[in-house]
Order: sequence, then C-alpha cells, then structure tokens
Amino acid sequence: MKRTHTCGDLRAAHVDQTVTLCGWVHNRRDHGGIIFLDLRDRYGLTQVTLDPDICGKEVHELGNRVRSEWVLQITGKVTSRGDKKNPNLATGEIEVFVKDLVVLNKAETPPFEIAEHIKVGEEPRLKSRYLDLRRPTMQHNLITRHRVTKVVRDYFDEHRFLEIETPTLCKYTPGGARNFLVPSRLHQGSFYALAESPQLFKQLLMVGGYDRYLQIARCYRDEDLRNDRQPEFTQIDVEMSFIDMDDIMDIGEGMARAVWKTILGVDLPAKFRRMTWAEGMLKYGSDKPDLRYGMEIVDLTDWAPTSGFSVFQKAVEAGGVVRALNAKKATEILSRRTLDTLTEFAKGYGAKGLAWIKIGGDPSKAESWQGPAAKNITEAARIELAKRMNVEDGDVLFFGADSFKVVCATLGAVRVELGTKLLKLARGDDWQFLWIHSAPAFEWSDESQALVANHHPFTAPYDDHVDLLASDPAKVLSKSYDMVLNGNEIGGGSIRIHDSATQSKVFKALGISDEDAQKKFGFLLHALSFGAPPHGGMAFGLDRMIMLICQSDSIRDVIAFPKTQRGRDEMLDCPTVVSDRQLKELALVTAAPVVAKA
Ligand code: AMO
Ligand code: AMP
Repeated sequence: MKRTHTCGDLRAAHVDQTVTLCGWVHNRRDHGGIIFLDLRDRYGLTQVTLDPDICGKEVHELGNRVRSEWVLQITGKVTSRGDKKNPNLATGEIEVFVKDLVVLNKAETPPFEIAEHIKVGEEPRLKSRYLDLRRPTMQHNLITRHRVTKVVRDYFDEHRFLEIETPTLCKYTPGGARNFLVPSRLHQGSFYALAESPQLFKQLLMVGGYDRYLQIARCYRDEDLRNDRQPEFTQIDVEMSFIDMDDIMDIGEGMARAVWKTILGVDLPAKFRRMTWAEGMLKYGSDKPDLRYGMEIVDLTDWAPTSGFSVFQKAVEAGGVVRALNAKKATEILSRRTLDTLTEFAKGYGAKGLAWIKIGGDPSKAESWQGPAAKNITEAARIELAKRMNVEDGDVLFFGADSFKVVCATLGAVRVELGTKLLKLARGDDWQFLWIHSAPAFEWSDESQALVANHHPFTAPYDDHVDLLASDPAKVLSKSYDMVLNGNEIGGGSIRIHDSATQSKVFKALGISDEDAQKKFGFLLHALSFGAPPHGGMAFGLDRMIMLICQSDSIRDVIAFPKTQRGRDEMLDCPTVVSDRQLKELALVTAAPVVAKA
C-alpha cells in the first residue's frame, strides 16, 4: 500500500496524473449514479468521483456501501473540475476519477459528526478524543503546537541554550502548588512528588555550570482546574547565569517575537511595555492586566469620606479603599438586569455589593445621574467625581468599597467581564504584551494564616529590601517579572537568591525553621554554598501560549488528551481504584475504597 499524495496536495498542475490517496470518508453524495466522496486526512479534503463508466460496476457498488469515516485507498486520474471548481477548498480545482477502490477499514457511526462546527458538549468529545482529533480545528491546533515548539527550540539553540531533562519524580517541597504524590514500593510509607516545575533542578544546573538551560518540561499540579489550568501541563523552562532582569526579559521577548512572526506573521514590538505590580493592581485591579481596552480604575479613597454615601465612608473608616471605573457609552448595553447580574458576579469575588451610577443626559445635571449610589452623593462630591472620572453622557460608573484586596479583585474582574464579554472591546488578534515586575515577595494567605511566597521562596528580593526580610517582610519587593498577554499570565520568573544566607532569611520570613529548611531544602542550601553563580530565569506556559495563538477559549483544545475540569480522563476512565493486592504492595490503606465517579 502506498499513497502517492495526501488529500491536501492535488492542484491543477496534477491534472492527468494517476494518483493513489488514502483517507477517511468525510461525506458521500450520490448524484444519479455518480458518487462523490470527500476523502479527508490531516492535510485536507479531496473530492473523489465514482463514475460507473470509468471505475466499473463492481467498484461503483462498493462505493455505494461506503459510509462516513470508513478508511479508503483509491487510485484514479486527476481531472480538472473546469468551471465547477470549489474556491473554498485548497484542492477545489480538481477531482480524482476513481479506477480502483480498496476499503482499508469500516467504521461504526461516530457518536458525533466529524465537522468543523459541531454543537456537542465537551464530554462526548473527550470520551472519543481520537475522533475529535480528526476535526480540522483540533488538527490545526496540534500542528500549531508542534510548530511553536520547533520555533522555540531553534530560537534557544541559536542563543546557545542547552536542552537538559530533569526528573519528574521528585521530593515533596512545601509552599508551592499542591503536589501529586506517588507511593514508593521499594521504600514503603514514603512518597515521591511529581515535579510542579523543574525550578530547583534548573537552579542546581546553574551551580553545575550549565549557564543557559532550556527544557520543554511537563509539570504536575494538583490544583482546582479552570479553562487555563490543567493538572499536567507544559512549560518552556529557561534559566541563565551571570544576567540581570533585563537580559531575561530580552530573551523572553525575543522568543515571543520569533514565535508570533513565524506562526502568525505578526511583528511584535522591539520592546514590550513594562509595569510594576503596584501599578497593575492600582489601575487594573490585576497582576495580569488586559490592555486591549482602557477602563482604568481610579482611586477615590480621599474623595469618599466627604461623598455623602455611607457605604463608601464606612469602607474608608475601616481602613479600606474606594475605587471606581468608567464604562464608556455603556448605558444602553447595560440593562438593569445585566447590572444586577454583574453585582452578583462581583459578590463572587468577595464584594458586599457593586454600587453603580448611570449617566443618562447632561452630566452637569443631577437628574442625569441614576442608580443606587447617585441619590446619596452630595452635589460637591458629584462635581468632583465627574471631573476625576471624566464623566460623559452614556457612561456607567462602577464602585468598589472594601479592603484593598477585595476592591482589586472585584473591580479587576468587573473590568474584564465588561471588556471581553459585555461591551466586547477586545479582539482575539490584538496582541497586547506586557511585563508585570517587582511584585511583593510574600502575600498573606487566609488559608494558612501566614505569609506565603508570591512566586516561590527562591526569588531574590531587591538588594535594598533584604533587611526588611526580618523587620517587615510584607513590604519586601522581589526581582520578579511575569509576561502577560491579553489578560493571561503566559510566563513568569525571577532573579534567584544565590547565597545561602539570604535564602535562609527568606525561609525564616516564611516561618520555615532552620531545622525544617535543612530537612526540606538542605540540598539547595548546600549547593548555594559551593560557588553558585548569580542566576535567574523564567517559565512560559506553553499550553496557554498556544491557546491564545489559536484563539481558543480553553487549553484543553490545544492538548491532545487533556483532563476534564474535574481532573478526569473520560476516555481512559481514570483515576481508578486499584486492587487490594496493589495497595498492599505499596503498604497503603485507603479510607475511600470506592471513589464516586463525579
Ligand atoms: P509559574 O508557577 O508561574 O512559575 O508557572 C509558569 C507558567 O506556567 C503556566 N502554568 C500553567 N499552565 C497550565 N496549567 C497550569 N496548572 C499552570 N500553572 C502554571 C503559566 C505560568 O505563567 N518555576 C517557576 C518559573 C520560574 O520562576 O522560572 C514556575 O513554575 O503560564
Ligand atoms: P445598600 O446601602 O447596601 O443597599 O447598597 C447600596 C448600593 O451600594 C448597592 O448598589 C450595593 O450593591 C452597593 N454596595 C454595597 N456595599 C458595597 C461595597 N462594599 N462596595 C461597593 N458597592 C457596595
């Protein structure tokens, strides 16, 4: 069996050639004795035609029995379609008149149509992923993924990076994402952890002298899943020695420029915009601002006490902040019902409410200001507000009055909801790259009631902040940087601590005792004491990058065999319970022998 061409190859130049194609029957039409089949493979579609006068009665009868998704091999002559050509198909100038047809395999009726626009839910698609993968969108996504990783490898190779593999069976380390644990049979009662990232290994490689490292690395995190999160995902992981923040940002920008140019033909700017973490939180309520639209948040904390509205006044008295954003020309789109829904949406982010004001008419007239907050605000406060918020007819103002954290989270989320969904201000192919740098080294965790590392505990503080580690750790800013694209964090990294004394101070600030630090990270502290070079790096979320490049809503659409939102593989039907014998071998007892399949 040998195919001479793929189903995407044939053009007018092939007319009169005898060719052999293999592929799946995409569809079949019978026009008064002449059968037209669209034969499909990952390269495209070709129309193959069975005319009984050319292929003979036997082959024609076989063609009649053929059904969707059967696998065929056909041999025939390429013929011009003349004025019947199909401009929507790359092979639309020609058709192949079949002389011989072999059924390579039959197929049951598929559970869903293998077509570009299908309306089935995700579950049946994931259950029969091999069929879903036959769809052109999925094929385009996976081909793009292959091309991106090729560009990335070539780019780093040109810049003298070495690709080095690191273990995925690692040691459990506290403080980061929740780890998947793997029981050891040879060391019963002990566990490996699946690597959440190659972070420590790549730092140890720097100590080992491999000053430019790259790995397209699989990472595992037992987190709650979202559309941009999978329990196993892939990082483009890099680390460099003898560099500063600018060098790594340059290398990261260069990679993005190479990828966007090669894959999309898009020229990204020579330098990406940079913003401090503090500015991001203040103006966008987010550490990953979407800059495809404006709607910057305005701080009104100094205005609030004399505003006349008790909700705002009380928030400031309690030590909180009052901030607002202005949705321009939004009065018509944002109906009363939509505003109620948006209020509930804001409550999901911890807000107690979402005060709003609609401006319907001349903003200098009090009666143009409508909504729950409008009637309570004094005239002087209204005039001042109009100035600060640049208020015009048709605007809708949204207010957050609460702790800094809640207001950022709420107005940040409301801004994105307005920009991307309600007002539709964002285009998928408007590429707004941005670096968010200098985040606080630590953040307060309500869950652990302690400071936790914002990035990870190996992130270097600014040199003049090292002393704050002991006195006021919440104020320490770090040499960190995230690459943000259209509201998505597509990469993150930092300059690392390269001396064991500073590393110990950070562990202390995190409440990790010397003894504990030795037990958990002794190997790192040891390594840092043997001539660790100054170093830093970053990791890009490959799946997220491809999702954005493919303008897809979910990273599941750019991963061949992803898990569901519930962390299950519907096709393999896993995770599964295991036999008592296997548990015994691992010296494990489980309190939940029967796992409910949710
Ligand atoms: P971080 O945890 O920020 O950094 O991860 C780097 C990037 O990986 C992507 N990412 C994910 N993608 C899909 N599913 C997930 N569950 C998931 N979690 C993270 C994001 C993120 O920006 N070792 C450090 C990097 C460094 O400091 O060099 C790290 O892992 O796009
Ligand atoms: P209330 O006085 O509770 O009826 O609230 C009046 C308006 O203020 C409603 O639109 C609430 O959604 C809104 N609101 C209440 N609390 C807050 C808050 N903390 N931040 C912003 N808006 C609020």
